[in-house]
Amino acid sequence: MFSEWNQSIKRTHLSEEINLQMEDQTVVLNGWIKAIRDHGPLVFIDLWDESGLIQINCDKNSSQWKKHQSLGYDCILSVRGKVKARPKNMQNKKIKTGEIEIIPQEITLLSKAKTAPFRSGDTVNEDLALQYRYLDFRRRPALKQNLKIRHKALQIIRQELSKQNFCEIETPILYKSTPEGARDYLVPSRKQKGCFYALPQSPQTLKQLLMLSSFEKYFQIARCFRDEDLRSNRQPEFTQLDLEMSFADEENILSLTEQLIQKIWKEIKNETVSDFPHLSYQSALDRFGTDKPDLRNPLELKRIDSEIIKTSNVKVLLSALNQGSCAKGLFVPHLTFSRSRSDEIQKTVKSMGAQGILWIQKTETEWKSPIKKHISENFLQKLYEKAGGREEGICFISSGESALVNTVLSQLLFLFGKEENLIDSSQTKFVWIKDFPYFYFDPEIKKWTALHHPFTLPQQKDIALLSESLTENLSKIKARAYDLVCNGHELAGGSLRIFDTALQKRIFSVLGLSQQDIENQFGFFLTALSYGAPPHGGIAWGIERLIMLLTNTNNIRDVMAFPKTTRAVCLMSQAPSPANTDTLTELGLSVIKNE
Ligand code: AMO
Repeated sequence: MFSEWNQSIKRTHLSEEINLQMEDQTVVLNGWIKAIRDHGPLVFIDLWDESGLIQINCDKNSSQWKKHQSLGYDCILSVRGKVKARPKNMQNKKIKTGEIEIIPQEITLLSKAKTAPFRSGDTVNEDLALQYRYLDFRRRPALKQNLKIRHKALQIIRQELSKQNFCEIETPILYKSTPEGARDYLVPSRKQKGCFYALPQSPQTLKQLLMLSSFEKYFQIARCFRDEDLRSNRQPEFTQLDLEMSFADEENILSLTEQLIQKIWKEIKNETVSDFPHLSYQSALDRFGTDKPDLRNPLELKRIDSEIIKTSNVKVLLSALNQGSCAKGLFVPHLTFSRSRSDEIQKTVKSMGAQGILWIQKTETEWKSPIKKHISENFLQKLYEKAGGREEGICFISSGESALVNTVLSQLLFLFGKEENLIDSSQTKFVWIKDFPYFYFDPEIKKWTALHHPFTLPQQKDIALLSESLTENLSKIKARAYDLVCNGHELAGGSLRIFDTALQKRIFSVLGLSQQDIENQFGFFLTALSYGAPPHGGIAWGIERLIMLLTNTNNIRDVMAFPKTTRAVCLMSQAPSPANTDTLTELGLSVIKNE
């Protein structure tokens, strides 16, 4: 027999709508069995719905209980019954409905449930939890709460932007490549065999085309797709708040973002956020070794004059310096070390590609360092101070190629900030990072690449450098781009855009695109620019990153309904999965099998 669903068993109330004032009223509740507790002649069923829990008090001898006594956890019931006050000694102050219970007149089984692979309170391996994501939501109310916060944040965003005359416009998912530095997800076309749509890495060109279309203020809660290596704050499919404004400059976009952030933090966390300092990309790298600094962490790096190292006799320093001209120090006050901890740190540093790291420790009574026997105490002290050392503690010194020095020291800065409890996790610290280099040389593909994307406007003072074809000029050109970083996460990124066809073409050709490539990939876009483009600019926030910050979560999967693993797999549906031969033939595709 199949389960029935009719008016007489449909709920009249949610659990938490029921209270003592409703005593003796008959109500119908629908929900899941959360627990069954045997109390001698009585059985208590905890019935659970969207609002919370309520206790159903069954007489073991009643026909209702006898009919359903084989039911267990997760079965779904409709309970018609009378509201009763619980005896004083049976009240439960921990739940909202703790003063009342329901005496059932009729219990209907709406849906039977198999025994779940895990229950509330179990410690569950994340893969199993992802495989049964729907059960994980039942098991972890906090997970559900995160999605409710996500909903609320999106509501605030929609309301605020609508108030300011932004128009929400959806743009296509089946589209052409929109380069943001990742690989594209391609979708084969059945009707144009051998041709592919690319899923948007962001709606970048589309939102610019909307500005060209004369919409002056656009936003979208946009799905984006990027085939890139995944981390704890990256998913292959994610959501952006994407926005764009015509006739706007940095000031307009930054202040709009700050206003929105303030509103969201106030309404969701009841916190006042007022400080949005600015930091240039170069100072961020100098001071923290990264362009995503966590300003809650008081540790900073210090550049060391290479002269002091050259005049020393310390071989490790001298040989490392030969490979690059950068030497920097990190001072961690009051840090002490065991031999095994020092070995672990050397291992960590080596795993990043460095030869090792030099450390100098100052204790109350002595200096310690692996180079102590090679140099005088005076020099050790000088080096300690140059590396930022003051009171007792440990200075780490790294030298060599600057990108590697920054990687190594920024990781140690993060590690000790955490380990030494220097970061107050109740705080939220924003910072705007600006003055990014426009191009960087990607050693893997041996090509100059745009650090943001190739639609970004170069800084006015640097545009002339583009007309000379000297590659050393490229590293000097700065972009009118800005990132909003919060607690060490890049929350949002944006820029002013090129609105001049010739400049746009020049950027594409500097990036190594042939005339033919430019025409094939961006011909339509360049044509659009040539019909009159307003100056425009915008920004995109990562919605998952926003919710991670609002909920103090470190795992992006905890703020999405059905996330993928770091191998980009959906463990629940087993996507991606092979396509059958008929489908492939219809699409004009064949699969090359990897041996
Ligand atoms: P950008 O590539 O910096 O800029 O992306 C904007 C923001 O999107 C979030 N984000 C991600 N979140 C989760 N998983 C990912 N794989 C992922 N990749 C990016 C980050 C990031 O700051 N079109 C430009 C914006 C513009 O110029 O207006 C863009 O997409 O929070």
